[in-house]
Amino acid sequence: MFEIKAKDGRGRVGVLKTKHGDVKTPNLMPVIHPRKQTVDVSKYGADIVITNAYLIYKNEDLKEKALDVGLHELINFDGPIMTDSGSFQLSVYGDVEITNKEVIEFQEAIGTDIGTSLDIPTAPYVEREQAEADMEITIERAKEAIDFVRDNDYEMKINSVVQGSTFLDLREKCAKELAKLDADLYPIGAVVPLMEAYHYKDLVDVVMTSVSNMHDSLPRHLMGAGHPMIFALCTAMGCDLFDSAAYILYAEDDRFLTTRGTIKLENLVEMPCSCEVCSKYTPDDLRAMDKEERTQLIAQHNLHVSFGELRLIRQAINEGSLMELVEERCRAHPMLLDALRQLSKYNDNLELYEPRSKKSAFFYTGNESLARPEVLRHVNKIKEMDKKENLVILPHYRKPYTKYMPKDFKKFMCCGEITDESITSENADFMVLDIPFGLIPLELDEVYPLSQNESPRNKDEIAICHASNLLLDIVDDYNQVLIAPKLVNEFDLDTVLDLEEYPYSENVKFIKDDLARVKAVADYQFGNGAGDALFCNDKSKGDLFTGKIKIEKSRKTGKIRHIYAGKDIIVNMRASDSLLILSKLGAKRLHASLGGIQNRVIIDNSVESFARDGKSVFAKFVKDCDENIRSNDEVIIVNEDDDLLAFGKALLSHKEIMDFKTGQAIKTRKGFKK
Ligand code: GUN
Ligand code: ZN
Repeated sequence: MFEIKAKDGRGRVGVLKTKHGDVKTPNLMPVIHPRKQTVDVSKYGADIVITNAYLIYKNEDLKEKALDVGLHELINFDGPIMTDSGSFQLSVYGDVEITNKEVIEFQEAIGTDIGTSLDIPTAPYVEREQAEADMEITIERAKEAIDFVRDNDYEMKINSVVQGSTFLDLREKCAKELAKLDADLYPIGAVVPLMEAYHYKDLVDVVMTSVSNMHDSLPRHLMGAGHPMIFALCTAMGCDLFDSAAYILYAEDDRFLTTRGTIKLENLVEMPCSCEVCSKYTPDDLRAMDKEERTQLIAQHNLHVSFGELRLIRQAINEGSLMELVEERCRAHPMLLDALRQLSKYNDNLELYEPRSKKSAFFYTGNESLARPEVLRHVNKIKEMDKKENLVILPHYRKPYTKYMPKDFKKFMCCGEITDESITSENADFMVLDIPFGLIPLELDEVYPLSQNESPRNKDEIAICHASNLLLDIVDDYNQVLIAPKLVNEFDLDTVLDLEEYPYSENVKFIKDDLARVKAVADYQFGNGAGDALFCNDKSKGDLFTGKIKIEKSRKTGKIRHIYAGKDIIVNMRASDSLLILSKLGAKRLHASLGGIQNRVIIDNSVESFARDGKSVFAKFVKDCDENIRSNDEVIIVNEDDDLLAFGKALLSHKEIMDFKTGQAIKTRKGFKK
């Protein structure tokens, strides 16, 4: 019922299937007022709408008509419709004249596509006792609603709303309890007051705590979120649906929505966009109009901007630039910047969803970019990598660094005991100090995103500090650290490292070595030891590991393309990200050398023959997989006895693969026939 089509971090482009058609997500459901609706939202791009079942239930005429002709005819919309339950009225008036069961029954009776139980929205910052009591009732009602829907074979899908106010442990508990139930969608409730008060930092805590305790396989709906300014941020946290009456409420108040905030008509000198309304009228035209006509036009603009932003977000997910968009949007208001900074506290969680390679380059748009999961992941890799005795730190040149590296370095600053032995890539790691990834081993200088990134030439203090801290973290792993003098000032290294000048004119040499390069990439990509396993020519290890290693380069670009053992290809190196693509021999060598669950997807023995035939692996047949797997990773596919069946590309990350019960998990490249 929900499938992921493209992903970037926690953001996903998905398809939500309903009996009234498929909906592309992320998407906005405009709120339709069952009595007073004047704007035809489908004309302005709505694929799905939301309306209030309780308001229909309470009005005798509407109720009768809805039961008679159905909800879709009542509100004149033939796409998917979600209904809310009256919980909002409950939170405003303290009471509603309907029970949980009644509202569920009624929603099915009028033919809604997605119904909602009668949750209790608890305002932010209330007494804990109240939040906890409300949450317990919300969970009880969610259980009751789901049982009722399943026992009676209802056609509609059912929402289970996460509550818990601003108490993160309660949000966590609520999400975990709901995750045990068989709901179809998870709305996140009671966030409207946070958004109205610009408490976006707290919104990040509430949303991240909720989503990280929910199933990844179900769509999430941020209830009442309707300002396009926050769509990108909330999508990046894993929200798939937004809903709001903002488009019409703001219009009634003569306010224009934009992705940078809201503008009042009275302050409008120029029309804010190039939609039909903004192209046709001037602010004076609108001010001179009668209220009703003007409201219609502003609502039209508001919907146009909202749907335009969602298209932009889906495009960004497809190309892998969602965080660049988020960073841009979050500069529209200091409270949004606060939210962006708060998001970095969830880095470890975000990293679990971050693909290792994307179509677009990593852009450094300010020091917040240092907190992105890609940087965190690389820094951890550098700390964990197998290290040589010495370290040489080079300044950054044009990328890729090895291609534009000066021939020799005359002088170095030395940290650690000075020895006279010559320093070469045999006994030293050579790394470039740069922003934002800190230290980049020369062998990895073409691997995504270490080459595919851009940062300004004017470096800020925080970025400099970030890079020098990484260096500081690893200097003790080496006997001797040599630093190009140019860097000492630039990265303020004198104050943190005890440096002495030392002439190394002839003695420091980086020797370009293609084999060392592909081994380093393999270790980085598949884990330490993978390089030695893949590119091994050692009879004593068996037939699988014999054959002269041959590295073939592109005649046009000079880049490594294929690596062979004798006549058999082990891996190909992809030109766009310099990551390795397994071939049969590569998969076999990896499987034979790396133990445990490393790089593996373990599938049910019952579907072994499909994998061997080269058919893709469906998520529901995955028994287990390496927790380091991210979407687009090369993986090996084994059965429960660890027999190698096939190899291919992961379409989802570890967490998603384990959570989804439908859809493909691994695109198999080749199978090993029995
Ligand atoms: N609309 C906005 N917030 C909420 C909420 O918390 N619960 C429900 N049911 N609807 C909402
Ligand atoms: Zn406009």
